[in-house]
Amino acid sequence: MITRRVISTRRWTMALGMLVSALAAGCSKPAPARPAEPASATFKVVAPSRQIMLAVTIPASDAVFNTAAEPPTTDEEWVTVERAALALAESGNLLLIPGRAVDDGEWARFSHLLVDTATRAYEAAQAKDIDGVSDAGNAIYEACEDCHKKYMPQAAAQ
Ligand code: HEC
Repeated sequence: MITRRVISTRRWTMALGMLVSALAAGCSKPAPARPAEPASATFKVVAPSRQIMLAVTIPASDAVFNTAAEPPTTDEEWVTVERAALALAESGNLLLIPGRAVDDGEWARFSHLLVDTATRAYEAAQAKDIDGVSDAGNAIYEACEDCHKKYMPQAAAQ
């Protein structure tokens, strides 16, 4: 009897001890310095436009431009073209985000042109239409050139 009571008392002491330390841990947690940032859709510009060109626009456009010269032969190869066209279209959107977009006029127009022409390339790739990808490729190239003529210092100098 006595032993049992001792054990149960010990259990209680342990449980109480755990409760106390849990409460203490809860209380000693430092209050957040400021309220958690609300989730938001604000953009955070990381790379300058030139890096967007090098990282996304150029490799993606190369894959689209090469399609006519090296036509895809398998479904997987077509999917690669589709994805390149999507990345290219989205790179147009990257050029439009606040903090990177140069202006609301021609810059925005050329960026939208890239989005639209690359979307056409995507649709043509979905249809496995080589001529369609090629035509869209020409239109894409004009969007690149038009923007460079106006906004790329090196191109303007030529
Ligand atoms: C909305 C404008 C815009 C569009 C559209 C655009 N570019 Fe650019 N691109 C720029 C600007 C601006 C620079 C120069 C950035 C710098 O030097 O600071 C540049 C630079 C480049 C460069 C030079 C990179 C280097 O090594 O300095 C290449 C190559 C390039 N773009 C390829 C493309 C291709 C290919 C496309 C189309 C698929 C394209 N760009 C579409 C604005 C654009």
